[in-house]
Amino acid sequence: CEKKDSQASKQRLLVVANRLPVSAVRGEDDSWQLNVSAGGLVSALLGVKEFETKWVGWAGVTVDDDKGRQTLTQALAAKRCVPVFLDDEIVQQYYNGYCNNILWPLFHYLGLPQEDRLTTTRSFQSQFDAYKKANRLFADVVQEQYEEGDVVWCHDYHLMFLPKYLKEQNSNMKVGWFLHTPFPSSEIHRTLPSRSELLRSVLAADLVGFHTYDYGRHFVSACTRILGLEGTPEGVEDQGKLTRVSAFPIGIDSNNFIKALELPEVQMHIKELEETFAGRRVILGVDRLDMIKGIPQKALAFEKFLEENPSWQDKVVLLQIAVPTRSGVPEYQKLSSQVHEIVGRINGRFGTLTAVPIHHLDRNLDFHKLCALYAVTDVALVTSIRDGMNLVSYEYVACQASKKGVLILSEFAGAAQSLGAGAILINPWNVTEVASSISYALDMPADEREKRHYHNFKHVTSHTSQEWAATFVSELNDTIIEAQLRTTQ
Ligand code: F6P
Repeated sequence: CEKKDSQASKQRLLVVANRLPVSAVRGEDDSWQLNVSAGGLVSALLGVKEFETKWVGWAGVTVDDDKGRQTLTQALAAKRCVPVFLDDEIVQQYYNGYCNNILWPLFHYLGLPQEDRLTTTRSFQSQFDAYKKANRLFADVVQEQYEEGDVVWCHDYHLMFLPKYLKEQNSNMKVGWFLHTPFPSSEIHRTLPSRSELLRSVLAADLVGFHTYDYGRHFVSACTRILGLEGTPEGVEDQGKLTRVSAFPIGIDSNNFIKALELPEVQMHIKELEETFAGRRVILGVDRLDMIKGIPQKALAFEKFLEENPSWQDKVVLLQIAVPTRSGVPEYQKLSSQVHEIVGRINGRFGTLTAVPIHHLDRNLDFHKLCALYAVTDVALVTSIRDGMNLVSYEYVACQASKKGVLILSEFAGAAQSLGAGAILINPWNVTEVASSISYALDMPADEREKRHYHNFKHVTSHTSQEWAATFVSELNDTIIEAQLRTTQ
């Protein structure tokens, strides 16, 4: 009963993201298996407990029959999730196409894909149309779930039209939008054919949030330079209507990781890993297999390190977990082959009869094994060529209270702005610099490791996902109160 009361007093929050926190797999007997989805957005939002949260999103599977839709909806309801059903054509054009072949590379400074630039405005246009159609489908489901007073929090580059569609349906709805990727310089954003419509649609939100101050600044300057609107210290103003723009650096549920380390199962994995790698130091990489993560650059830097430090050759291993992702997009298939080719070459060059220098795994690890890996490894190597935040670096720090391993972190990850003082910052394009940072990390004296770790641990445990969500929602509430006051004055 107490539990029910505390639920009742919590503010209702509708989280709308392309991907639900669970992805569904249909069994042969038509039952549904729900697996926790990969990625930073899910790992951060799962820790948020202050609100009565309901998720609206895609379950990662196409379901064409009514019975399947019904049973999946029921299975998801138990997880407080509501599905948006997308057919294969929409998934191809909206998710694989406009989201992950156009917006994702552009927002990470990789430019527009060449075929679209050179040939078809047609395929670009059809992907853009599908993007808008998908955003409409999300808006319709939100509308069905919405109750007066709810806060609607839209997430990410998949849903840039959602604030506009929601406000058109109901101008009183409290709508926030948060971007989990970088927002690029306006000079990059302006190359996008649909640049203005996207900006205007996001501006329909009451509050727009980014991981860093720089991403927010880029967004405001895109609005001023491309749309000719006025940028103010609070955000962007259009004919008296202010859209507030602010930085809300995301965090993790650090306690969840810290507590997991005490579990017998995790302790058992730790012991096994220590035995497996006895006598060798371990450098850890955990990334989705994405071009923004700089996995080829990481392998090449490690090769350089081995080349320059022969005495380390059979005493250190790079353990790379490469979580498969977006395999329907050709660029990701190419990346996978490229990484395998580089890793194979390096292992052929430096491997011995009994050991290889790079252990590369193309799979997701379960949470307990991942915590154990974070805890036992000597160095974490994050080489993103651009990354909105990079929560793997946070997770590593949370699990290193006893070992005090070293974090080597790309200066192009948002996390460099919060963990920069404790980490060794690197430019992932400079393989020589990364190689010498690996060497420095492996030889770092204990007192320096402790100091660096302490700094980062303090940050990770005090800037949590709970605090991130609470700050965003409270600022969204304030923004709306201020706007009401302005109109009554
Ligand atoms: O913002 C990045 C993001 O959208 C996050 O949800 C997560 O880090 C990752 O990309 C997941 O990608 P996908 O849903 O395409 O597998």
